[in-house]
Amino acid sequence: MSTEQLENFKQILGDRYGLNFDPRNDKTLKKAITKRLEALGFKSDIDYYSFLNKSTGAAEEFDDLISLLTVGHTNYFRSPDHFRALKEYVLPRIVSQKADKDKRLRIWSAGCSTGDEPYSIAITLLECFKGIKQWDVKILATDINTQFLQHARSGIYDSWTTKYVDQKLFDKYFVKTENSALLKDQVKNMVKFFYLNLATDGYSFAQEGKDKFDIIFCRNVLIYFRKEMVKRIIKKFYDLLEDKGYLFLGYSENLTQISRGFEPNSLYGVFFYEKRPPELRTKPKQVPQARPIEIPSPPRIKPKETVAPEPKETVAPEPEEIDEERLYLEGINHFGEERFEKAAEIFEHILEKNPRSARALLGIGFLLANKGRDQEARQKGQEVLEIDQLLPEAYYLLGILNEREGSLKATRESYQRAIFLEKDFIMAHFNLAILYKREGKWREAQREFKNIVNILKTRKDNEPIKFSGGFNKRSFLKICEEAVRSK
Ligand SMILES: C[S@@+](CC[C@H](N)C(=O)[O-])C[C@H]1O[C@@H](n2cnc3c(N)ncnc32)[C@H](O)[C@@H]1O
Repeated sequence: MSTEQLENFKQILGDRYGLNFDPRNDKTLKKAITKRLEALGFKSDIDYYSFLNKSTGAAEEFDDLISLLTVGHTNYFRSPDHFRALKEYVLPRIVSQKADKDKRLRIWSAGCSTGDEPYSIAITLLECFKGIKQWDVKILATDINTQFLQHARSGIYDSWTTKYVDQKLFDKYFVKTENSALLKDQVKNMVKFFYLNLATDGYSFAQEGKDKFDIIFCRNVLIYFRKEMVKRIIKKFYDLLEDKGYLFLGYSENLTQISRGFEPNSLYGVFFYEKRPPELRTKPKQVPQARPIEIPSPPRIKPKETVAPEPKETVAPEPEEIDEERLYLEGINHFGEERFEKAAEIFEHILEKNPRSARALLGIGFLLANKGRDQEARQKGQEVLEIDQLLPEAYYLLGILNEREGSLKATRESYQRAIFLEKDFIMAHFNLAILYKREGKWREAQREFKNIVNILKTRKDNEPIKFSGGFNKRSFLKICEEAVRSK
């Protein structure tokens, strides 16, 4: 296929679906085109292209081609901290705001793939929302890939996608067969699936809920779109969300230079966004009082598998010369981009050379924390501090773990120590600022945001920010400036 012809395909798919095809994906694209044109009996890619371009009946064919091009990688409770933020921060607030009103809860999982995400949301609700029976709850889930939707409706999963489901929850909501796990009807019936191309204008499925959404999950979907398309989609999310609705994006996606209509919030080291209509933007945000509502202490969602390798050697050999600092940063970078296995490989490699490498142990600690294995993560953090008391990131890890535990004083102290040891530690300043905000300590929060703005002034534009999940100077500056203005 000529380069020009390949570009034509990219153009037509970009126009119809907003998808952005990186040159790295050329091979996949060519393979998919060849497969489809052979299936339809076309002699050349030119014929197939003109069929797609001109034929009014090509809609179904587009679906088949798109099915070969969409990446459906997902699993239950992917990015567990999003689910913690959902049950410990977002749900309590929505429930207390609406408890005296209509008792309607609407959630949308956009780009739901095989359903793992909306079903994880359903399980979270069943587990922590005691009054759910008195509420009218609707979880709608959409995707463009009809095969994924079919799979989702079937509720049949393999052991890989359910590996992060806590054993207790697994036993409660799945029936295990020899080769698979069948989701029980109690969960299946809570989610309705619809076909939706996010790049089109009509989102008629949304009428099913008869209300605006309280929460939208659209994680790991927008990374495949062109920027203009992302802006259009986010604008639609804004319009379809309740005034104080919440938006969850993937770990490496953010709204910088995309929309000013949302305020970022960070909890347990992950971001999520709150819709801020203009009239709410300039006023100081009130810290909502945690009313005793029907959400008891959250279930622990723990994986069943060991992910992070233990150091293999029990007797420390003479450390061999390796560039530990560089490797560690590489590992953290993979971690930030959700390539967890690659990150684990690097930390393990460092530990093979030096089993007492504080940095590598810390990396393992972050991986454990990411899997929700907090106790083990905490042990690693302590182990790290026994080796090197002056490693700021170790206190940052403990800060996240303390925050999850709800120990505010310990959280504050951990972040403050991290900053004491590394005064330019942006994410420690940021999490501290958010913590102060949550406690209603506006002056302290503003001070932290201003600190970040000052630190950022010394950074290069596209320099990534450690532990921020994909933000760079420019994007983070905007967030902080907005946060400073919002007081
Ligand atoms: C990587 S999966 C993300 C699944 C899930 N949200 C998660 O984070 O685990 C991306 C999903 O986006 C869907 N998708 C891609 N382009 C889309 C479009 N134009 N409209 C709707 N869904 C789309 C894909 O079919 C795929 O299921």
